[in-house]
Amino acid sequence: MTDKTRNTMWGGRFAAGPDAIMEAINASIGFDQRLAPQDIQGSRAHAAMLAATGIISDSDAEAIGEGLLTVLSEIETGAFPFRVELEDIHMNVEARLKELIGEPAGRLHTGRSRNDQVATDFRLWVRDQCDAVTEGLTALIRALLGQAEAGADWVMPGFTHLQTAQPVTWGHHMMAYVEMFGRDVSRFRDARARMNEGPLGAAALAGTSFPIDREMTAKALGFDRPAANSLDAVSDRDFALEFLGAASICAMHLSRLAEELVIWSSAQFRFVTISDRFSTGSSIMPQKKNPDAAELLRAKLGRILGANVALFTVMKGLPLAYSKDMQEDKEQVFDAADTLMLGLAAMEGMVRDLTANRANLEAAAASGFSTATDLADWLVRALGLPFRDAHHVTGALVKRAEEKGCDLPDLTLDEMRDAHADITDAVYEVLGVHNSVASRTSYGGTAPEQVRVQIARWKEKLT
Ligand code: ARG
Repeated sequence: MTDKTRNTMWGGRFAAGPDAIMEAINASIGFDQRLAPQDIQGSRAHAAMLAATGIISDSDAEAIGEGLLTVLSEIETGAFPFRVELEDIHMNVEARLKELIGEPAGRLHTGRSRNDQVATDFRLWVRDQCDAVTEGLTALIRALLGQAEAGADWVMPGFTHLQTAQPVTWGHHMMAYVEMFGRDVSRFRDARARMNEGPLGAAALAGTSFPIDREMTAKALGFDRPAANSLDAVSDRDFALEFLGAASICAMHLSRLAEELVIWSSAQFRFVTISDRFSTGSSIMPQKKNPDAAELLRAKLGRILGANVALFTVMKGLPLAYSKDMQEDKEQVFDAADTLMLGLAAMEGMVRDLTANRANLEAAAASGFSTATDLADWLVRALGLPFRDAHHVTGALVKRAEEKGCDLPDLTLDEMRDAHADITDAVYEVLGVHNSVASRTSYGGTAPEQVRVQIARWKEKLT
């Protein structure tokens, strides 16, 4: 309970404590306690620097460093008494340190402010998440490579407008997602490299008159360098926005793959079977096996993109430097990061367990006149027709097959010749789906040999 006659934190200036509602809207300890390890790491680096520069004594710095480790272990074991009247993780840690070591605790906050402190803690946290997400993505890429390798030459329909377009290979389709998730990895790496500047020592907004060593704290915390402008250092949340931007794109990729899994696992498609481990049943329809994990993954982008929009909206009108609005950054990023990590793990499991129904894929690839382009290309190559004329002749043959209720290879040579008198038997060779995919040997094309080139390139990249 707050003592209303006294102010716990700003006793000197304030005669009364805050209203309960003020405390409720102001406090962030309910969520920013997640930053405890980073806060303690930052404070230990700061204390060591204060001693090295002679701003505090070695013995005080030692007491602070030791005391902070005790606080950390209390937090880790759940013994730490979080107090909402102390607002946030920074004040909670410092107050507990005071209880543990007494007077030297009051020297820790020399030459810094909660503004550079929170900017430092949060950067460290987001930086760790970039590494964790990169790991999750790499595991998913490996699972996709496994699928691609197993089915490098399995034929399936390729779609545009979700209408049968041309035959492609299962491996090629899996490798398309490897490219997407590979770009995600590079986005998180880029963001990580850009955010790796230390705000500590920017103090409230203007720097400090104490002879601090910002290079030293930056180095101790694994930053490449200290941030070069103190106003920017405390008011910048680009790193969080970049993380959310990269997370949104990654979640969009997950959502597209999830959508394909939902479609492919339906009774109408039967392209894949999702394992029991990643499916659910229906409480009323005994035959049902639902792709719930894929559906949820499809929806998760909503939360992540929502977090992205929310933080943009928080930041867009803020004057320099720090404003309390910025406290609203954390919950969005925490939730987006948790959601993305869970989503990556779920997709990895689903892809690993996935069974592609090879026979169904091939049967579907052969229907819907999927080799019509191969026929048109043959008319160009073998008979020397201009492509536009070849397109027209092929269209007539598709119409004929449609009327007859058959696929292109089922038309007789006489029927073919009704459309163009010079067509020969050789045309049937290009109408088969295996020949069709095998012929697409251009770089990045769907031919199994090309797909294997890309699989090998990715495996090399991951070693
Ligand atoms: N809890 C605050 C936050 O998350 C810490 C910084 C507070 N700074 C201040 N001047 N009130 O942003």
